[in-house]
Amino acid sequence: MKTQAFTLTQENIIYLDHNATTPLAQSVFDSIPEWSRHWGNPSSIHLAGRGPKSVLRDARKQFADLIGSHPLELIFTSGGSESNNLAIQGVLHALQTGQLKAAKIEGRKKLLYSAVEHPSVVQAMQLAARLGFDVQTIPVLRCGRIDMEALKSLLDESVALVSVMYANNETGNIYPVREIADLVHGVGALFHCDMVQALGKAEFNIKELDVDFASFSAHKFYALKGCGVLFCRTGLVLESLIQGGGQERGRRAGTENILAIAALAKMSEYKSDILKHLGEMKVLRDDLEAQMKARIEGVLINGEQSARLPNTTSAIIPGVDGESLLMNLDLKGFAVSTGAACSSGNPEPSPVLLAMGLSRAEAQSSLRVGLGWGTTKEQIDAFVEALVEVTNRLRSLDQEGQYV
Ligand SMILES: Cc1ncc(COP(=O)(O)O)c(C=O)c1O
Repeated sequence: MKTQAFTLTQENIIYLDHNATTPLAQSVFDSIPEWSRHWGNPSSIHLAGRGPKSVLRDARKQFADLIGSHPLELIFTSGGSESNNLAIQGVLHALQTGQLKAAKIEGRKKLLYSAVEHPSVVQAMQLAARLGFDVQTIPVLRCGRIDMEALKSLLDESVALVSVMYANNETGNIYPVREIADLVHGVGALFHCDMVQALGKAEFNIKELDVDFASFSAHKFYALKGCGVLFCRTGLVLESLIQGGGQERGRRAGTENILAIAALAKMSEYKSDILKHLGEMKVLRDDLEAQMKARIEGVLINGEQSARLPNTTSAIIPGVDGESLLMNLDLKGFAVSTGAACSSGNPEPSPVLLAMGLSRAEAQSSLRVGLGWGTTKEQIDAFVEALVEVTNRLRSLDQEGQYV
């Protein structure tokens, strides 16, 4: 008997770009008609509002159980970008309006973030710099690790907030979040962690990580787009970026996206399956890398020497341009990327890879493959065949001087 695929599938695509977004889980897709019946406003006190209100309450509890938080520590947002902005800008505004007295960071002016953060963190930090904060970056090493010595030397009692992601969306490198949290708290600062790439790709408990704020995005976890979460530790105050109604305890105004929130909560039901999926993805990812190294001369895996998510491969394929590789693979039905999805179409090499010390040529020859819960051995084998063929063709064109 043919078992149903975990996610929706599209016949003509082998999707290997799960760090950009994940396909919808079949179970989420099947539940959409039922959730759509809850069209009322969860803030209404009449019967039409009570259904969506209980969906919202249950979803908050389910997602809290998934990450190990208290339900009231969660703020539903429109996605990872908003969660990152809410954490950073929300703290800045709370600092400026004197609401962070309890956190004892009043008057502090320094903010730190790692050199490999997502643009939503980078740009929120750049805004802070324009507002007069002293914003500095924490370097990363070629091996993929955060430069912990540099972090220690940047940390002092003038630091208000530090933002370092759990895992990088391009290389999959995992950073030592608990160790960083301890150092940051050692100087009395607050710690925000972008955990968008952690859902479904890592096992963690938010309390053990001891972060103050953590961002999540539903569309990286087989649920719908336009939905995210910011974990905000009990007792911490944030200024809302969106002013209006008192939703999310005054921390994010606007009628809640019940459908997408219910979908994210549905995915939380898979908590006990996560470990199994991590193991399966790692076997396939290691097999992919072994095949690539054996069959394509000169392949180097970015960040390989350091801890990584089990689903991600970022590979330098010398002598070929990543964009050409991507387009040729696309024509053959394979979906991969050269770096972050939000920067595709940008001819500049990935800032993440450059920050790790790769040359422009190396960064421009890099390809990112992101496996998911539905990826199969057959798909990996078919992908390697296509990659070998396209790489050989592009390299031979290059030798003949036809390839630019
Ligand atoms: C690490 C990281 N942070 C934040 C985001 C932004 O999430 P969203 O697309 O939900 O705004 C992404 C998405 O690519 C990401 O990979």
